[in-house]
Amino acid sequence: MDGNGRWARSRMLPRYVGHREGVKAVRRIVEACRNKGITALTLFAFSSENWRRPSDEVGLLMDLFIRTLKKEIDTLHRNGIRMRFIGDHAPFPGDLRELIVQAEARTRENSGLDLVIAANYGGHWDVTQACRRVAARVASGELKPEEITTDMLAGEIALADLPEPDLFIRTGGEQRISNFLLWQLAYTELYFTEVLWPAFNEQALDDALDSYAQRQRRFGRTGEQVEQLKGA
Ligand code: IPE
Ligand code: MG
Repeated sequence: MDGNGRWARSRMLPRYVGHREGVKAVRRIVEACRNKGITALTLFAFSSENWRRPSDEVGLLMDLFIRTLKKEIDTLHRNGIRMRFIGDHAPFPGDLRELIVQAEARTRENSGLDLVIAANYGGHWDVTQACRRVAARVASGELKPEEITTDMLAGEIALADLPEPDLFIRTGGEQRISNFLLWQLAYTELYFTEVLWPAFNEQALDDALDSYAQRQRRFGRTGEQVEQLKGA
């Protein structure tokens, strides 16, 4: 979700107002995804690199997370949304960590949209923590290094229980992944748009979905094979 700051600056407003409008876009898009029957949505809310921002902006973002979670959790729960957070939450303020645990526990049994918030998340961190867990099994003698498989690592990576993402959307004009779900995006269709996150609406989402619908996903096969498989 990129472009909050630029959205605000272009209106001569402080960056914080852009983040606040960004929350409104989150509400819109979560609702739209739910209505479209999309089963999982992961939002990159705060990266492990965002700590490098000025401390007052980081503080304002933490406050905004806390206030938004408090305010939205009832509605999210009522709408059958299952919430999950990925990332290293240890550096977050205690009340935010507490809210995260509560939100996950409260919505665990819901069966609507899986809404994942990546907070203090980084793809490198994710792969590292998966390696650590597999390494622990090696250290305990349960496993030999040569017995490590791709599937084993895949099982330890964040969101292992969800389908791999079909579509990645980056707003704000930048064409890079910026340490988002590195492992999980191996076969994901990438979509980049100039639209700044606070302006991202249902139409913009439909444009992304239309673009996705026009692509042929081959997963290493030839186009002819894919057509045959579709016919089978
Ligand atoms: C993304 O918008 C929001 C967060 C990282 C929390 P930015 O704050 O990066 O907005 P720009 O890129 O400065 O416009
Ligand atoms: Mg940015």
